Amino acid sequence: MLPVKAAAKITGANAIRVKGILTLMTLMVLIFLLLLFWEREPAEEIVVTSIEHLHVDYPKSNPIRYCNSMVLQRVIREPNDTCKKKHVFIHERPQKLNSVCISHRKMVCPSQSTIFCFQSETKFKMTLCQLIGGITYPACRYQVSALEGYVLVTCDNLGPVHFHGYIE
Ligand SMILES: *[C@@H]1O[C@H](CO)[C@@H](O)[C@H](O)[C@H]1NC(C)=O
Repeated sequence: MLPVKAAAKITGANAIRVKGILTLMTLMVLIFLLLLFWEREPAEEIVVTSIEHLHVDYPKSNPIRYCNSMVLQRVIREPNDTCKKKHVFIHERPQKLNSVCISHRKMVCPSQSTIFCFQSETKFKMTLCQLIGGITYPACRYQVSALEGYVLVTCDNLGPVHFHGYIE
């Protein structure tokens, strides 16, 4: 049998070991959470400004009053918080939009004659939203029209950057 003193020492050692493991686990959870947020923040900012977030709705969703709902859902507005006069949602796969950047049809962008736009080689299904009421976001009301046309985008090395309109 162990003397009482020695037994107490072993229990104490175990308690310290348990404490150590708990501290380690807490530390690991903290590091995990830290990494999670670290990863999230820039990702969210990319989503907010990307052409996909602003213009691609595929497969097409079906809310009532399509344009009014979608403009709120995607936060479509002018930088000064006024309602956008026109906005287009594209109902094609994001990959199909990406492939416009390898199109052989290149032209000067309408309304911005100093930059080049790529034009899609096939027609895309889209919805045009045209402002019919309201001045300041989010009180904007839109008219909905379905259309098909060749889209015009600018591209960088990673893919499409800005939507510059369409040709019917
Ligand atoms: C807000 O921005 C839009 C687009 O740039 C412009 O047409 C409009 O005049 C601006 N409105 C105000 C109140 O500054």
